[in-house]
Amino acid sequence: MADQAFVTLATNDNYARGAMVLGKSLRNHNTSKKLVVLIGPQVSDPCQCVLKRIYDEVRVVDVLDSGDAAHLAMMKRPDLGVTFTKLHCWTLTHYSKCVFMDADTLVLSNIDELFDREELSAAPDPGWPDCFNSGVFVYRPSIETYGKLLEFCTEHGSFDGGDQGVLNGYFSDWATADIAKHLPFIYNLSSIAIYTYLPAFKQFGGNAKVVHFLGKTKPWSYTFDPKAKKISGSEQDVSSNPTYLLEWWMLYSSSVVPMLHEQYGDQTFHSGCVEFLCSEMMTIEIEQSESTLSLPHSLPQPSSQERKQKWEQGQADYMGMDSFDNIKRKLDTFLK
Ligand code: UDP
Ligand code: GLC
Ligand code: MN
Repeated sequence: MADQAFVTLATNDNYARGAMVLGKSLRNHNTSKKLVVLIGPQVSDPCQCVLKRIYDEVRVVDVLDSGDAAHLAMMKRPDLGVTFTKLHCWTLTHYSKCVFMDADTLVLSNIDELFDREELSAAPDPGWPDCFNSGVFVYRPSIETYGKLLEFCTEHGSFDGGDQGVLNGYFSDWATADIAKHLPFIYNLSSIAIYTYLPAFKQFGGNAKVVHFLGKTKPWSYTFDPKAKKISGSEQDVSSNPTYLLEWWMLYSSSVVPMLHEQYGDQTFHSGCVEFLCSEMMTIEIEQSESTLSLPHSLPQPSSQERKQKWEQGQADYMGMDSFDNIKRKLDTFLK
């Protein structure tokens, strides 16, 4: 249906990688709906190009930030103020009905039947089931609703500092008014539930249609070896949701990474897969950097982990540690 769409959001390149995988997963399961991604101006050109190949519509929006450090600190997620940007999804009025999905979700089978539901349909949040989780929801774009939501933000703020607090405040009768608006949990299976109620997961997990990698550690926080099909490299235990993580990485490495390589060409690009030269080079460089590079000691030096994270976020220290001269020197010793 041309007037119905799946919508997601990515304000930076990391979430853009999530959006690429989500879009691919929707296509692979033959959705008949349009695919829309809202992006922040910070998303790089190569990532925008790849998104354009997967999505029908790539729309740049202003990044809205709640700036609510106090509430966000309670969730230990200072980064989620920008999820206010999600509210822009109500402005897509050239569609009559949409399903919003977080960029950290993955579709496991066709879910077009969600469009039979009404605004606002969503699944319970695993942390407080009388609230809905705003990682997957059915809604009707409307400028009027968009205006009312912004007004609600100004008047009441958000009890969690992110969009989920606002949306639960605005659609406050969700828990009690209409059971048809409660999506089954299989449409938003958060990885958290796997270890909080393992027997239920064993019993029903096979029916899951959408998995949501909710929480601080995202699939792209790990490193993947496509040959060995092995995931590693984050402080969080990989075994908590091995199947879905592997599924995300298989899709990312097979369908998304080749597109990213085409777009980046010769430029440095760290895919998160261990097989590619640039990532190997970076690992060697980071391991040896402390002992071999001369650095100004007046500044506190980031740890290898912090530096790797920055590199992955596209924020290499080009003027310092990661300067061309330093990298060239490293390459020279490597080649010798
Ligand atoms: N998001 C984004 N940039 C950010 C943080 C969040 O684009 O810096 C978007 C993205 O679509 C993401 C959603 O907002 O999936 C909600 O954030 P997240 O999934 O990290 O929250 P969680 O589900 O872990 O609570
Ligand atoms: C939640 C949701 C996410 C939302 C965030 C901030 O945990 O999963 O979609 O953006 O809270 O409200
Ligand atoms: Mn999420």
